[in-house]
Amino acid sequence: MGVVVVAAGSGRRLGADRPKAFVELAGVTLLEHALRGVVAAGVDEVAVVVPLDLVTQAEAVAAPLGAPTGPTMTVVAGGAERTDSVAAGLSVLSERVHLVLVHDAARCLTPAAVFDRVLAALERGAKGAIPGVPVVDTIKTVDPDGFITGTPSRDSLRAVQTPQGFRRDVLEEAHASGVSATDDAALVEALGHRVLVVEGDHRSLKITTPEDLAHAERLLRA
Ligand code: C5P
Repeated sequence: MGVVVVAAGSGRRLGADRPKAFVELAGVTLLEHALRGVVAAGVDEVAVVVPLDLVTQAEAVAAPLGAPTGPTMTVVAGGAERTDSVAAGLSVLSERVHLVLVHDAARCLTPAAVFDRVLAALERGAKGAIPGVPVVDTIKTVDPDGFITGTPSRDSLRAVQTPQGFRRDVLEEAHASGVSATDDAALVEALGHRVLVVEGDHRSLKITTPEDLAHAERLLRA
């Protein structure tokens, strides 16, 4: 199994002086936290996708966690959109990889059990499986002027996370469509494939704002 860890975003909303993956949480970069989590999940290959000017720095983070004791790690430069970064990571996984998980480095505290649930669903034959949690807020859809157009039933809603897992052929077909999306499942759904939502975890939050970073520090301490 291979994992694409996308860490090439700028992280503007975090307001730090460096790209998000290189911001520290309890003295360790988000990238290193994320890679430790991926290694703990017991994967064979990892593609680490970072901004072009940080490839060397990311290699220094990845190398001690990789082969010979850990998975094969390949660091590659990402693209302008998240979808481009995922495609760059996919392109460096070896031919042997048939199941791929795509994981946001920003979700650097994802427990190994979440990786296991996604992988188990793929091994049972799902073409795609992603973690999700029920939503606690009532969600509204609105028009461009802000007026409500609908209130979907909360029972049918999930807030989805990563790692998102797919059969490699399905994910590559989805990326070949050339469409961009905020998650990979959306590309796969657009092809008409069924994607299963498995149980996510509240610790798998996506660190986006300074408040998220503070929340993650509290989770780590707990
Ligand atoms: O921007 P967003 O919050 O959706 O980013 C989710 C993940 O995708 C982050 O881990 C970020 O580093 C990554 N990303 C990327 N390349 C981009 C944009 C985002 O690898 N061009």
